[in-house]
Amino acid sequence: MKTAIIYASKTGTTKKVAEALAEKIKGEVKLLPIANVKPGCLLRYDFVIIAGSIHYGRIQSEIKSFVNKNRATFRGILYGLYIMCMFEDECEEYMKKSFGEDIVENAMIRACFGGEVNPNEGNFVTKKLIKANLKKFEEEGKEPPSIRWERVDEFADEINNRINK
Ligand SMILES: Cc1cc2nc3c(=O)[nH]c(=O)nc-3n(C[C@H](O)[C@H](O)[C@H](O)COP(=O)(O)O)c2cc1C
Repeated sequence: MKTAIIYASKTGTTKKVAEALAEKIKGEVKLLPIANVKPGCLLRYDFVIIAGSIHYGRIQSEIKSFVNKNRATFRGILYGLYIMCMFEDECEEYMKKSFGEDIVENAMIRACFGGEVNPNEGNFVTKKLIKANLKKFEEEGKEPPSIRWERVDEFADEINNRINK
């Protein structure tokens, strides 16, 4: 059983989850940053996971265009999707906007694993934005964004149970 995790990650969160999944999913798991993905590679695996993170409402353009270019191939393969984002209520919308409705609906599994934000990272504007959002979470009595590791475990378990017995 061969699985590929094709991902893009701006500050490392999506990558961290991809690495954890590679440990948890049985069989051979190849981690492929989107920049290293070659045309036709989707057909070399029994299962493919596509992953990216949301910044200013959008997934990485490389992920979006990769999915668009390979739309026809996705119809004939088994795949899963996950995204990282801090506004988890928006997850379904982000999914549809990032991958398109058909790709989301035909996925064997899909998930949002939350996100991580560092108020000391990035330029002045980014830091200000992150701090403002963290303050909003606090004012609304919500937990600050974090990786939902329990969902990562469930995601891997489901893949192992369904296709990787
Ligand atoms: C500048 C910036 C903009 C962001 N914009 C959004 C957003 O529009 N919606 C959202 O849900 N999360 C947003 N996030 C949160 C990221 O999705 C989260 O930090 C995620 O863990 C990043 O994953 P990565 O490290 O793999 O890039 C933003 C984070 C940063 C730093």
